[in-house]
Amino acid sequence: MAYINENYLKLPGNYLFAEVARRVAAYKDAHPDADVIRLGIGDVTLPLPAASIAAMHAAVDEMAKKETFRGYGPEQGYDFLIDAIIEKNYTSRGIAVSPDEVFVSDGSKSDCGNIQEIFSTDDVIAITDPVYPVYLDTNVMAGRTGALGADGRFEGVVYMPTTEENGFAPALPDQPVDMIYLCCPNNPTGTTLSRAELTKWVDYARKNDAVILFDAAYAAYITEPDVPRSIYEIEGARDVAIEFRSFSKTAGFTGTRCGYTVIPKTVTAKAKDGSRHPLNALWSRRHSTKFNGTAYIVQRGAAAIYTDEGQKQVAGNIAYYMENARIIREGLSALGLSVFGGVNAPYIWLKTPNDLPSWEFFDKLLHEANVVGTPGAGFGPSGEGYFRLTAFGDRQATEKAIARIREKLVL
Ligand code: MLT
Repeated sequence: MAYINENYLKLPGNYLFAEVARRVAAYKDAHPDADVIRLGIGDVTLPLPAASIAAMHAAVDEMAKKETFRGYGPEQGYDFLIDAIIEKNYTSRGIAVSPDEVFVSDGSKSDCGNIQEIFSTDDVIAITDPVYPVYLDTNVMAGRTGALGADGRFEGVVYMPTTEENGFAPALPDQPVDMIYLCCPNNPTGTTLSRAELTKWVDYARKNDAVILFDAAYAAYITEPDVPRSIYEIEGARDVAIEFRSFSKTAGFTGTRCGYTVIPKTVTAKAKDGSRHPLNALWSRRHSTKFNGTAYIVQRGAAAIYTDEGQKQVAGNIAYYMENARIIREGLSALGLSVFGGVNAPYIWLKTPNDLPSWEFFDKLLHEANVVGTPGAGFGPSGEGYFRLTAFGDRQATEKAIARIREKLVL
């Protein structure tokens, strides 16, 4: 007799973006002629940088010849990519990272979701609220939480409201926690933590023997100088933090899949007998057991973004999306809506008009303006009454969406 992992039964309905897609598909079925503009899931619309395309073509040619063909690669990633990552993202900012502290993967969603496997199921997790749902859902699946309460919170999870009221800077937990998920720039609010705020978290983790799981997938979008691009810019973070990075939003790899995780060998946690163990070794064991490496062709494409040409092309794409962010932010502000984010991140977080519940606003926007966004409540209870729009759309579609909201939405 096979039994299921009943923790899955604790999860409500569909994964957030699957539910959004389901509702949009139902609307399209009923209104086949509707020109629906999708500013929901944060999926890029510009093609891969030309430097990546050229490198991937060359890699395909290598795969076509016996002398240059490659089979299994190193699970942790090829040196050419790891060295480029370290040089351009860390050494250049004065941060020391060694090659065996970087793990290349098929994207940071997988890593953010899988990292919890190397921690005890007795650990208490703390998440900012609202937040990228992967952190919470994967911990629910693993059995690290109780049931979902009527207040929309899972038992045993420490929620840290990250809202307009606290300037999107969550307060430190008032009870012991072991694993702290921070996302900066934050998805969905598009807001960031300053150097002083991040220092507070690193100090807290050091004092309380906690580990920070720092998702920096949107780091390339930071424009303001006081916002750290990496948690390792903060003194002491190398002892307490794991950092997740992605090529998806940085270089358009959402469909191509490539990301990486940095685990300094100095980050440790305890076994029940009190002995301390480096998390790097545990993750390395997991990675080599469950993963056979990111495709060589993809890693070549990723490494190409670090060439001078690649850097220019990536900067051009980011500037394009950030101009979309400006169009959305200013367009909605002009309508009298309260908007946040969009300065250091490609997400705009808005307060729904007349305090409409997020899913009601989702339906209203879809029906009246044929524009799709993501309901804030899907990111956590503190997201209720808020809504997220992505700046990753096509320029014309973004402008059209704002014009439609202005002309058709009954506020
Ligand atoms: C989002 O829309 O929040 C992201 O695209 C989801 C993801 O990166 O997996």
